[in-house]
Amino acid sequence: MADHDILVVGAGLAGMRAAIAAYRAGANVAMLSKVHPVRSHSNAAQGGINAALRGENDSTESHIYDTVKGSDYLGDQDAIELMCNDAPREIIDLEHMGVIFNRDENGRLGTRAFGGASYARTFFVADITGQAILHVMYEQIMKSGVRSYEEWFVTDLIVEDGVCKGVVAMEMLTGRLRTITAKAVILAAGGVGRAFEPSTNALICTGDGMALAYRVGATLMDMEMVQYHPTTLKGNGVLLSEAARGEGAYLLNSKGERFMEKYAPKMKELASRDVVSRSETTEIEEGRGVDGCVLLDLRHLGKENILRKLRYIHEAALEFAGVDMTEAPVPIRPGQHYIMGGIKTDVDTRTWDESGQNRWRGVKGLFAAGETACVSVHGGNRLGANSLLETVVFGKRAGEVATAYAKSQPDFHVSDAHLKDREHAIKAVFDRPAKKDSVANVRLEMGKTMDEHLAVYRTEQGMQTAAKKVKELKDRYKTLPVGHKGKVYNTDLIFHMELGFMLDCAEAICSGGLLRKESRGAHARRDMPNRDDANWLKHTTTIMGPDGPVAGTLPVTITKWQPQARVY
Ligand code: FUM
Repeated sequence: MADHDILVVGAGLAGMRAAIAAYRAGANVAMLSKVHPVRSHSNAAQGGINAALRGENDSTESHIYDTVKGSDYLGDQDAIELMCNDAPREIIDLEHMGVIFNRDENGRLGTRAFGGASYARTFFVADITGQAILHVMYEQIMKSGVRSYEEWFVTDLIVEDGVCKGVVAMEMLTGRLRTITAKAVILAAGGVGRAFEPSTNALICTGDGMALAYRVGATLMDMEMVQYHPTTLKGNGVLLSEAARGEGAYLLNSKGERFMEKYAPKMKELASRDVVSRSETTEIEEGRGVDGCVLLDLRHLGKENILRKLRYIHEAALEFAGVDMTEAPVPIRPGQHYIMGGIKTDVDTRTWDESGQNRWRGVKGLFAAGETACVSVHGGNRLGANSLLETVVFGKRAGEVATAYAKSQPDFHVSDAHLKDREHAIKAVFDRPAKKDSVANVRLEMGKTMDEHLAVYRTEQGMQTAAKKVKELKDRYKTLPVGHKGKVYNTDLIFHMELGFMLDCAEAICSGGLLRKESRGAHARRDMPNRDDANWLKHTTTIMGPDGPVAGTLPVTITKWQPQARVY
């Protein structure tokens, strides 16, 4: 008998929202995470969550249009419509769960402006919005009694007869491996920022969900679409929230000019992220930077305002860059932040093609939501504060749809072979002879390579270099030993397995990048600077072949917004 109807892998906002929805739909649901849930990376989403809820001059239609335009017309418009339509209800639900959003002077839920949005529609809790929602969501999980496997690491998905039936997982406290079976598995394991170095992402963002799905035959989509956030600290990649610019901060070059007036005359600092990151890069490359950075100036916002609404980033800049932003501008630059690509799903979060037409390859019983997935609501470029929205809208949908699916499935037993295979694989790694090369070396070389060649600007030659390097690193990975062979909290072993996941994702990112012969959204090619709607208004796909990634394409769903020139 299956252990659960639903197993959710990942306990960030998408995962917890999925678990709550499945619980409310009557499923026997469990949630599994390699960290304690409130340490998930959703914690780091600072600025807010979008919804056209205020009425006044805003509308859901406008939110949809901004998102489609922000995606550089690569987002699937049916999915975007669904997300923006559900957004107001989700904010109210979060409020009812207990999230204490900031309010305006009239006591109504308050909003701030965010990039690429025609209206200030970002609801927020100071600059710790993700953290605030995460804690409230975890309260709901505890209240419900949903089983939570905390500090468990998934090594494999179990697939039999083309159907996903659970996972093989390791309890990190004891090193014990076991199978956890379920009629449906929802992957909500976050992004793969740490395939780049530096990144704003937590060290746990190692693409586990994407790689697990890729390895069992699911399709990864638009993996080349990697977002560089415009305001990160040099060296360590620490994020300074877009909320700073939302509250009115300026970007200055070495001459003290607000250079965004030149690149985006209407929206200036609040143009979409890809546009701002390219503008900053141009300023730096043309000699108007300051030590490889440009400057984020908040001084005119006033100390009281900064400390009330941007307390966290004030502390981060002080702590990590030694700058008090109430008194001096902060040097910042674009840094890896997010991946728009991920596991291809339909709008109901299924990884397989339910129509039976096999338009893409997926795995029945396997669902995905949040940054792990590509549904695709962000296309070529995500708007700030649409990621938290995506997690709750599609997390909830995943929980509901997966429950209906699970209830229609017969019970089953799975073979012991899955567990035994992983035990043997781990033993084989432990038995490898010591060598000079290490997980840390390979990880750093991968991160630096990806940051050099798949950052704000790309070229064919650079991406070829990266693809070749990733292949070489994958070969080295096959012989890498694990230093520590103990059972209890063997983080050496976990880092080893995470590196394998990241290398798979890096390979898919290079594959997508090399396939797309145009510039669109975050994929800005110096050698092909124009968007090419005639040939490339389509998604790139990657599946794992016996000799490496196999690239393909899928059409973009357009409901009513035809591509236009994208100006801000
Ligand atoms: O800048 C930020 O606060 C990040 C938000 C987001 O990525 O949505």
